[in-house]
Amino acid sequence: MEESQPYLSVRNLQTHFILDEGVVKAVDGVSFDVHPGQVVGIVGESGCGKSVAIKSILRIIEKPGRIVGGEILLRRQSGGNGSGGAEAINLVELDAHGQEMRSIRGGEIALIPQEPMASFSPVHTIGNQIIETILLHQPVGKKEAEQIAIERLREVGVPSPEQRLNAYSWELSGGLRQRAMIAMALSCNPRLLIADEPTTAIDVTTQAQVLNLLRSLQQQHNMAIIFITHDLGVIAQIADYVVVMYLGRVMETGPVDDIFHAPKHPYTKALLKSIPSIRATSRTPLPTIEGSIPHPFNRPPGCPFYPRCPDFMPGTCDQHTPEVQPVNERQSVSCFLYHAVADQV
Ligand SMILES: Nc1ncnc2c1ncn2[C@@H]1O[C@H](COP(=O)(O)OP(=O)(O)O)[C@@H](O)[C@H]1O
Ligand code: SF4
Ligand SMILES: [Mg+2]
Repeated sequence: MEESQPYLSVRNLQTHFILDEGVVKAVDGVSFDVHPGQVVGIVGESGCGKSVAIKSILRIIEKPGRIVGGEILLRRQSGGNGSGGAEAINLVELDAHGQEMRSIRGGEIALIPQEPMASFSPVHTIGNQIIETILLHQPVGKKEAEQIAIERLREVGVPSPEQRLNAYSWELSGGLRQRAMIAMALSCNPRLLIADEPTTAIDVTTQAQVLNLLRSLQQQHNMAIIFITHDLGVIAQIADYVVVMYLGRVMETGPVDDIFHAPKHPYTKALLKSIPSIRATSRTPLPTIEGSIPHPFNRPPGCPFYPRCPDFMPGTCDQHTPEVQPVNERQSVSCFLYHAVADQV
Protein backbone atom coordinates (compact mmCIF):
# COMPACT_ATOMS: atom_id res chain seq x y z
CA MET A 1 0.00 0.00 0.00
CA GLU A 2 2.76 2.39 0.94
CA GLU A 3 4.55 1.91 -2.39
CA SER A 4 1.54 3.11 -4.34
CA GLN A 5 1.25 6.77 -5.23
CA PRO A 6 -1.16 8.57 -2.94
CA TYR A 7 -4.61 9.10 -4.42
CA LEU A 8 -4.89 12.37 -2.51
CA SER A 9 -2.08 14.56 -1.19
CA VAL A 10 -2.93 17.52 1.02
CA ARG A 11 0.06 19.85 1.21
CA ASN A 12 0.38 22.70 3.69
CA LEU A 13 -3.33 23.46 3.47
CA GLN A 14 -4.41 26.71 5.06
CA THR A 15 -8.09 27.60 5.36
CA HIS A 16 -8.92 30.74 7.27
CA PHE A 17 -12.12 32.54 8.24
CA ILE A 18 -11.66 36.23 7.83
CA LEU A 19 -14.05 37.98 10.23
CA ASP A 20 -14.34 41.56 11.44
CA GLU A 21 -13.12 40.45 14.88
CA GLY A 22 -10.02 38.76 13.48
CA VAL A 23 -8.81 35.77 11.49
CA VAL A 24 -9.67 32.22 12.56
CA LYS A 25 -6.91 29.98 11.27
CA ALA A 26 -9.15 26.90 11.29
CA VAL A 27 -6.68 24.88 9.20
CA ASP A 28 -3.17 26.22 9.40
CA GLY A 29 -0.65 24.20 7.43
CA VAL A 30 -2.04 20.66 7.27
CA SER A 31 -0.42 17.92 5.18
CA PHE A 32 -1.32 14.25 4.78
CA ASP A 33 -1.65 11.57 2.11
CA VAL A 34 -4.39 9.07 1.36
CA HIS A 35 -3.39 5.96 -0.59
CA PRO A 36 -5.81 3.89 -2.65
CA GLY A 37 -7.70 1.48 -0.40
CA GLN A 38 -6.38 3.06 2.80
CA VAL A 39 -8.47 4.20 5.78
CA VAL A 40 -7.01 7.41 7.20
CA GLY A 41 -8.44 8.47 10.56
CA ILE A 42 -8.28 12.16 11.47
CA VAL A 43 -8.68 12.60 15.22
CA GLY A 44 -8.71 15.65 17.46
CA GLU A 45 -10.90 17.55 19.89
CA SER A 46 -13.94 19.45 18.73
CA GLY A 47 -13.00 22.67 16.94
CA CYS A 48 -9.51 21.57 15.85
CA GLY A 49 -10.34 21.96 12.16
CA LYS A 50 -11.30 18.46 11.03
CA SER A 51 -14.51 19.44 9.24
CA VAL A 52 -12.95 22.56 7.73
CA ALA A 53 -10.09 20.42 6.37
CA ILE A 54 -12.40 18.01 4.58
CA LYS A 55 -14.76 20.74 3.39
CA SER A 56 -11.68 22.34 1.85
CA ILE A 57 -10.95 19.11 -0.04
CA LEU A 58 -14.51 19.08 -1.36
CA ARG A 59 -14.39 22.84 -1.99
CA ILE A 60 -17.54 23.46 0.04
CA ILE A 61 -16.13 25.97 2.54
CA GLU A 62 -18.74 28.55 3.30
CA LYS A 63 -17.94 32.28 3.41
CA PRO A 64 -16.11 34.01 5.05
CA GLY A 65 -13.89 30.92 4.92
CA ARG A 66 -11.23 30.74 2.25
CA ILE A 67 -8.36 28.46 1.25
CA VAL A 68 -5.44 30.86 1.52
CA GLY A 69 -2.57 28.49 0.86
CA GLY A 70 -1.43 24.98 0.03
CA GLU A 71 -2.34 22.30 -2.46
CA ILE A 72 -4.85 19.46 -2.64
CA LEU A 73 -3.55 17.07 -5.27
CA LEU A 74 -5.93 14.43 -6.60
CA ARG A 75 -4.40 11.71 -8.77
CA ARG A 76 -6.99 10.59 -11.24
CA GLN A 77 -6.52 7.65 -13.52
CA SER A 78 -6.15 9.05 -17.02
CA GLY A 79 -7.72 7.14 -19.88
CA GLY A 80 -10.46 5.83 -17.63
CA ASN A 81 -9.58 2.15 -18.17
CA GLY A 82 -7.21 1.85 -15.25
CA SER A 83 -4.18 1.30 -17.44
CA GLY A 84 -3.11 4.90 -17.97
CA GLY A 85 -0.85 6.95 -15.75
CA ALA A 86 -2.18 9.12 -12.97
CA GLU A 87 -2.51 12.83 -13.64
CA ALA A 88 -2.50 15.04 -10.56
CA ILE A 89 -4.88 17.96 -10.42
CA ASN A 90 -4.78 20.61 -7.75
CA LEU A 91 -8.33 20.99 -6.43
CA VAL A 92 -7.44 24.37 -4.92
CA GLU A 93 -7.08 25.76 -8.45
CA LEU A 94 -10.46 24.53 -9.66
CA ASP A 95 -13.59 26.67 -9.68
CA ALA A 96 -15.52 25.42 -6.62
CA HIS A 97 -18.80 25.54 -8.58
CA GLY A 98 -17.38 24.54 -11.95
CA GLN A 99 -18.09 21.42 -13.96
CA GLU A 100 -14.90 19.55 -13.01
CA MET A 101 -15.23 20.09 -9.27
CA ARG A 102 -18.92 19.14 -9.41
CA SER A 103 -18.08 15.88 -11.14
CA ILE A 104 -15.38 15.09 -8.55
CA ARG A 105 -17.67 15.99 -5.65
CA GLY A 106 -20.16 13.17 -5.17
CA GLY A 107 -18.67 11.21 -8.07
CA GLU A 108 -15.01 10.49 -7.26
CA ILE A 109 -15.06 11.81 -3.70
CA ALA A 110 -18.22 11.25 -1.68
CA LEU A 111 -19.12 12.67 1.70
CA ILE A 112 -21.13 11.39 4.63
CA PRO A 113 -21.60 14.75 6.39
CA GLN A 114 -21.40 15.42 10.10
CA GLU A 115 -25.04 16.47 10.45
CA PRO A 116 -27.10 13.29 9.82
CA MET A 117 -30.22 15.25 8.88
CA ALA A 118 -28.32 17.45 6.46
CA SER A 119 -27.72 14.57 4.10
CA PHE A 120 -31.31 14.10 3.01
CA SER A 121 -33.95 16.68 2.25
CA PRO A 122 -37.12 16.03 4.30
CA VAL A 123 -39.43 16.82 1.37
CA HIS A 124 -38.14 14.20 -1.11
CA THR A 125 -38.09 10.43 -0.74
CA ILE A 126 -34.69 8.87 -0.15
CA GLY A 127 -35.11 6.96 -3.41
CA ASN A 128 -35.55 10.15 -5.40
CA GLN A 129 -32.49 11.68 -3.80
CA ILE A 130 -30.24 8.67 -4.42
CA ILE A 131 -31.50 8.37 -8.02
CA GLU A 132 -30.92 12.10 -8.54
CA THR A 133 -27.29 11.73 -7.42
CA ILE A 134 -26.75 8.78 -9.74
CA LEU A 135 -28.26 10.62 -12.71
CA LEU A 136 -26.00 13.58 -12.00
CA HIS A 137 -22.81 11.54 -12.11
CA GLN A 138 -23.41 8.50 -14.27
CA PRO A 139 -24.47 8.09 -17.89
CA VAL A 140 -27.55 6.02 -17.11
CA GLY A 141 -31.30 6.41 -17.55
CA LYS A 142 -33.90 6.68 -14.80
CA LYS A 143 -34.80 2.97 -14.71
CA GLU A 144 -31.19 1.92 -14.46
CA ALA A 145 -30.49 4.54 -11.78
CA GLU A 146 -33.38 3.11 -9.79
CA GLN A 147 -31.90 -0.37 -10.04
CA ILE A 148 -28.51 0.92 -8.86
CA ALA A 149 -30.20 2.69 -5.93
CA ILE A 150 -31.98 -0.53 -4.91
CA GLU A 151 -28.74 -2.46 -5.24
CA ARG A 152 -26.85 0.05 -3.09
CA LEU A 153 -29.53 0.01 -0.38
CA ARG A 154 -29.43 -3.78 -0.38
CA GLU A 155 -25.64 -3.75 -0.16
CA VAL A 156 -25.68 -1.61 2.98
CA GLY A 157 -28.23 -3.91 4.64
CA VAL A 158 -31.46 -1.93 4.24
CA PRO A 159 -34.30 -4.51 4.29
CA SER A 160 -36.89 -4.42 1.45
CA PRO A 161 -34.97 -1.76 -0.48
CA GLU A 162 -37.63 -1.53 -3.23
CA GLN A 163 -40.13 -0.23 -0.68
CA ARG A 164 -37.64 1.98 1.14
CA LEU A 165 -37.13 3.99 -2.03
CA ASN A 166 -40.48 5.62 -1.29
CA ALA A 167 -39.66 6.43 2.35
CA TYR A 168 -38.71 9.85 3.67
CA SER A 169 -35.55 10.10 5.76
CA TRP A 170 -37.52 11.09 8.85
CA GLU A 171 -39.52 7.86 8.62
CA LEU A 172 -36.38 5.76 9.12
CA SER A 173 -34.72 4.77 12.38
CA GLY A 174 -31.33 6.32 13.13
CA GLY A 175 -29.52 3.16 12.06
CA LEU A 176 -31.43 2.82 8.79
CA ARG A 177 -31.00 6.48 7.95
CA GLN A 178 -27.27 6.05 8.50
CA ARG A 179 -27.24 3.10 6.11
CA ALA A 180 -29.26 5.02 3.53
CA MET A 181 -26.73 7.86 3.79
CA ILE A 182 -23.90 5.43 3.15
CA ALA A 183 -25.83 4.00 0.18
CA MET A 184 -26.24 7.49 -1.26
CA ALA A 185 -22.55 8.30 -0.76
CA LEU A 186 -21.56 5.03 -2.44
CA SER A 187 -24.08 5.31 -5.26
CA CYS A 188 -21.48 6.54 -7.78
CA ASN A 189 -18.62 4.21 -6.79
CA PRO A 190 -16.39 6.90 -5.28
CA ARG A 191 -12.67 6.19 -5.04
CA LEU A 192 -12.58 8.16 -1.80
CA LEU A 193 -15.28 8.27 0.85
CA ILE A 194 -15.06 10.99 3.47
CA ALA A 195 -17.02 10.24 6.63
CA ASP A 196 -17.28 13.18 9.04
CA GLU A 197 -18.09 11.81 12.51
CA PRO A 198 -20.76 9.56 10.95
CA THR A 199 -21.48 7.54 14.07
CA THR A 200 -21.81 10.31 16.65
CA ALA A 201 -25.61 10.35 16.67
CA ILE A 202 -26.25 6.61 16.81
CA ASP A 203 -26.20 4.03 19.61
CA VAL A 204 -23.18 1.84 20.37
CA THR A 205 -24.48 -1.36 18.76
CA THR A 206 -25.50 0.41 15.57
CA GLN A 207 -22.18 2.22 15.56
CA ALA A 208 -20.27 -1.05 15.64
CA GLN A 209 -22.42 -2.36 12.78
CA VAL A 210 -21.87 0.77 10.71
CA LEU A 211 -18.10 0.62 11.24
CA ASN A 212 -18.04 -3.05 10.22
CA LEU A 213 -20.16 -2.25 7.20
CA LEU A 214 -17.87 0.59 6.12
CA ARG A 215 -14.83 -1.64 6.52
CA SER A 216 -16.29 -4.43 4.41
CA LEU A 217 -17.52 -2.05 1.70
CA GLN A 218 -14.11 -0.40 1.68
CA GLN A 219 -12.42 -3.75 1.08
CA GLN A 220 -14.96 -4.89 -1.52
CA HIS A 221 -14.61 -1.70 -3.56
CA ASN A 222 -10.94 -1.03 -2.74
CA MET A 223 -12.06 2.45 -1.80
CA ALA A 224 -10.05 4.88 0.30
CA ILE A 225 -11.71 6.44 3.35
CA ILE A 226 -10.97 9.53 5.37
CA PHE A 227 -12.69 8.94 8.68
CA ILE A 228 -13.10 11.96 10.94
CA THR A 229 -13.76 11.49 14.64
CA HIS A 230 -13.05 12.91 18.09
CA ASP A 231 -13.26 9.35 19.42
CA LEU A 232 -10.05 7.34 19.72
CA GLY A 233 -12.01 4.11 20.19
CA VAL A 234 -13.50 4.53 16.72
CA ILE A 235 -10.05 5.22 15.29
CA ALA A 236 -8.79 1.95 16.79
CA GLN A 237 -11.62 0.07 15.09
CA ILE A 238 -11.45 1.51 11.62
CA ALA A 239 -8.22 3.32 10.74
CA ASP A 240 -5.04 2.03 9.09
CA TYR A 241 -3.28 5.33 9.41
CA VAL A 242 -3.88 8.21 11.84
CA VAL A 243 -3.53 11.98 11.63
CA VAL A 244 -3.73 13.70 15.04
CA MET A 245 -4.82 17.34 14.81
CA TYR A 246 -4.76 20.16 17.32
CA LEU A 247 -5.80 23.79 16.72
CA GLY A 248 -5.65 23.57 12.96
CA ARG A 249 -2.30 21.82 12.79
CA VAL A 250 -1.03 18.24 12.56
CA MET A 251 0.66 17.01 15.74
CA GLU A 252 1.47 13.45 14.75
CA THR A 253 0.90 10.96 11.94
CA GLY A 254 1.58 7.25 11.75
CA PRO A 255 0.13 3.75 11.34
CA VAL A 256 -2.63 3.03 13.86
CA ASP A 257 -0.54 0.49 15.86
CA ASP A 258 2.32 2.95 16.35
CA ILE A 259 -0.02 5.76 17.36
CA PHE A 260 -1.64 3.56 20.03
CA HIS A 261 1.42 1.65 21.24
CA ALA A 262 4.28 4.07 20.72
CA PRO A 263 2.86 7.61 20.56
CA LYS A 264 5.54 10.27 20.26
CA HIS A 265 3.85 13.66 20.53
CA PRO A 266 2.91 14.91 24.04
CA TYR A 267 -0.61 15.67 22.77
CA THR A 268 -1.12 12.14 21.41
CA LYS A 269 0.19 10.76 24.71
CA ALA A 270 -2.20 12.97 26.68
CA LEU A 271 -5.13 11.83 24.55
CA LEU A 272 -4.26 8.18 25.07
CA LYS A 273 -3.52 8.51 28.76
CA SER A 274 -6.92 9.99 29.37
CA ILE A 275 -8.73 6.85 28.21
CA PRO A 276 -8.24 3.89 30.60
CA SER A 277 -9.22 1.25 28.05
CA ILE A 278 -9.76 1.64 24.35
CA ARG A 279 -12.36 -1.11 24.25
CA ALA A 280 -14.40 0.10 27.19
CA THR A 281 -14.62 3.65 25.96
CA SER A 282 -15.57 3.41 22.34
CA ARG A 283 -18.28 6.02 22.91
CA THR A 284 -16.32 8.28 25.20
CA PRO A 285 -15.42 11.61 23.70
CA LEU A 286 -11.84 12.73 24.18
CA PRO A 287 -11.70 13.70 27.82
CA THR A 288 -10.37 17.02 28.94
CA ILE A 289 -6.67 17.42 29.04
CA GLU A 290 -5.38 19.89 31.58
CA GLY A 291 -5.40 23.53 30.51
CA SER A 292 -7.88 25.17 28.21
CA ILE A 293 -7.87 25.56 24.46
CA PRO A 294 -6.89 29.13 23.55
CA HIS A 295 -9.53 31.28 21.89
CA PRO A 296 -9.43 30.92 18.09
CA PHE A 297 -8.57 34.63 17.61
CA ASN A 298 -5.95 34.52 20.28
CA ARG A 299 -3.54 31.85 19.29
CA PRO A 300 -0.27 32.18 21.15
CA PRO A 301 2.88 32.16 19.04
CA GLY A 302 4.94 28.96 19.05
CA CYS A 303 3.73 25.38 19.37
CA PRO A 304 -0.09 25.44 19.60
CA PHE A 305 -0.02 22.86 22.41
CA TYR A 306 2.50 24.64 24.64
CA PRO A 307 0.02 26.16 27.16
CA ARG A 308 -1.11 22.60 28.04
CA CYS A 309 2.07 20.64 27.42
CA PRO A 310 3.80 18.83 30.33
CA ASP A 311 7.10 18.96 28.41
CA PHE A 312 6.96 22.67 27.59
CA MET A 313 10.43 24.18 27.09
CA PRO A 314 10.34 27.95 27.74
CA GLY A 315 12.14 30.02 25.16
CA THR A 316 11.74 27.31 22.52
CA CYS A 317 8.16 26.06 22.40
CA ASP A 318 6.64 29.52 22.93
CA GLN A 319 8.91 31.21 20.41
CA HIS A 320 9.04 28.85 17.44
CA THR A 321 6.40 26.79 15.67
CA PRO A 322 7.45 23.17 15.11
CA GLU A 323 6.95 21.65 11.65
CA VAL A 324 5.93 18.02 11.10
CA GLN A 325 9.06 15.93 10.56
CA PRO A 326 9.77 12.18 10.60
CA VAL A 327 10.90 10.56 13.88
CA ASN A 328 11.27 7.09 12.39
CA GLU A 329 10.31 5.25 9.21
CA ARG A 330 6.63 5.35 10.04
CA GLN A 331 5.79 8.26 12.32
CA SER A 332 6.12 12.02 11.98
CA VAL A 333 5.60 14.64 14.66
CA SER A 334 5.72 18.40 15.12
CA CYS A 335 7.55 18.77 18.42
CA PHE A 336 10.84 20.22 19.61
CA LEU A 337 11.49 17.16 21.80
CA TYR A 338 12.45 15.44 18.54
CA HIS A 339 13.70 18.22 16.30
CA ALA A 340 15.93 21.16 17.01
CA VAL A 341 14.68 24.62 16.07
CA ALA A 342 17.60 24.84 13.65
CA ASP A 343 16.33 21.75 11.76
CA GLN A 344 13.07 23.42 10.82
CA VAL A 345 12.40 23.24 7.12
N1 LIG B 1 -18.37 29.39 9.25
C1 LIG B 1 -17.41 29.64 10.16
N2 LIG B 1 -17.12 30.89 10.54
C2 LIG B 1 -16.13 31.14 11.45
N3 LIG B 1 -15.38 30.18 12.04
C3 LIG B 1 -15.64 28.91 11.68
C4 LIG B 1 -16.65 28.55 10.74
N4 LIG B 1 -16.65 27.19 10.60
C5 LIG B 1 -15.69 26.74 11.42
N5 LIG B 1 -15.08 27.77 12.07
C6 LIG B 1 -14.00 27.66 13.06
O1 LIG B 1 -13.01 26.81 12.57
C7 LIG B 1 -12.49 25.99 13.60
C8 LIG B 1 -12.53 24.55 13.20
O2 LIG B 1 -13.88 24.12 13.08
P1 LIG B 1 -14.25 22.64 12.62
O3 LIG B 1 -13.42 22.25 11.45
O4 LIG B 1 -15.73 22.62 12.42
O5 LIG B 1 -13.84 21.75 13.87
P2 LIG B 1 -14.01 20.19 14.10
O6 LIG B 1 -12.63 19.67 14.31
O7 LIG B 1 -14.83 20.07 15.36
O8 LIG B 1 -14.69 19.62 12.90
C9 LIG B 1 -13.28 26.33 14.86
O9 LIG B 1 -12.52 27.24 15.63
C10 LIG B 1 -14.51 26.99 14.33
O10 LIG B 1 -15.00 27.93 15.24
S1 SF4 C 1 6.98 21.56 20.89
FE1 SF4 C 1 7.19 21.88 23.08
S2 SF4 C 1 5.17 22.52 23.77
FE2 SF4 C 1 4.93 21.63 21.75
S3 SF4 C 1 4.42 19.53 22.15
FE3 SF4 C 1 6.64 19.58 21.86
S4 SF4 C 1 7.47 19.85 23.93
FE4 SF4 C 1 5.29 20.32 24.05
MG1 LIG D 1 -16.53 18.71 12.70
